[in-house]
Amino acid sequence: MSLEDVLNWVEPESIEASLARQIDFDRLPTHVAMIMDGNGRWAAQRGLPRVQGHSAGIDSVRDVVESSARLGIPVVTLYAFSVENWKRPQNEIKTLMGLLKKYLRLELRTLLKNNIRFQVIGREDELADDVRQELEFAQEETKADTGMVFNIALNYGGRTEIVDAARRAIQSNVRANELDETRFAEFLYTSGQPDPDLLIRTSGEMRVSNFLLWQIAYAEIWVTETLWPDFRCRHLFEALLAYQKRNRRYGGIARPAIVG
Ligand code: IPE
Ligand code: IPE
Ligand code: MG
Repeated sequence: MSLEDVLNWVEPESIEASLARQIDFDRLPTHVAMIMDGNGRWAAQRGLPRVQGHSAGIDSVRDVVESSARLGIPVVTLYAFSVENWKRPQNEIKTLMGLLKKYLRLELRTLLKNNIRFQVIGREDELADDVRQELEFAQEETKADTGMVFNIALNYGGRTEIVDAARRAIQSNVRANELDETRFAEFLYTSGQPDPDLLIRTSGEMRVSNFLLWQIAYAEIWVTETLWPDFRCRHLFEALLAYQKRNRRYGGIARPAIVG
């Protein structure tokens, strides 16, 4: 994956091409997490039912997943359905689950072609059997892929994940004095994966909505007013450029400016 690869993919002389040329490919985030928000508002702005917004959001998912893989980002996590989203009307939930199944069926070949490993994070066992079957199939088919890891957060809650990790730690009989942050992280759904360097939220909301609470401890947060169905690789490139300008301190002191 390289700049050439991206330039072959985007329109020559486009905004995307000009943004891509500014990205430092040696300093890409190892993990980008995204809160895909604003589907309902996108639909409302057009006088459409909310579910149409979810349907339109699938094109954004496709674009973002493919462009992230082309860029060479090692891990991408998309927040698709939270443990709190069960509060929504039945027909909306049904549509979301249906769209997920449709996406997997249509995109599996593209995931395989791009060497992407698909993985669910969240309480998958609480999902309906037909949805689970589809998810299991996609995870099984892509499990040998060695390229980008694509996590989809489904029936996901950050607090739920921490509780589940604590339960697993207890079940594994880990000794209390051996349980440190590194060991605890091995019990999380994202075990073995780097923490997100960059957290993107669409539609302007300034909150994390129970997403990856443990893992985003030092993530750089980038919020855009763009609604998820309008989000495309151009916005991802903008986020990456903003990220590369940040000075990450991790509680330390600012890096001195490079002179000369
Ligand atoms: C994000 O869009 C999709 C999910 C949470 C599943 P929303 O449905 O939350 O859209 P808004 O926030 O109501 O606009
Ligand atoms: C967060 O969006 C969850 C997902 C994107 C799946 P919400 O729309 O559910 O979050 P709140 O309610 O605005 O915090
Ligand atoms: Mg929302």
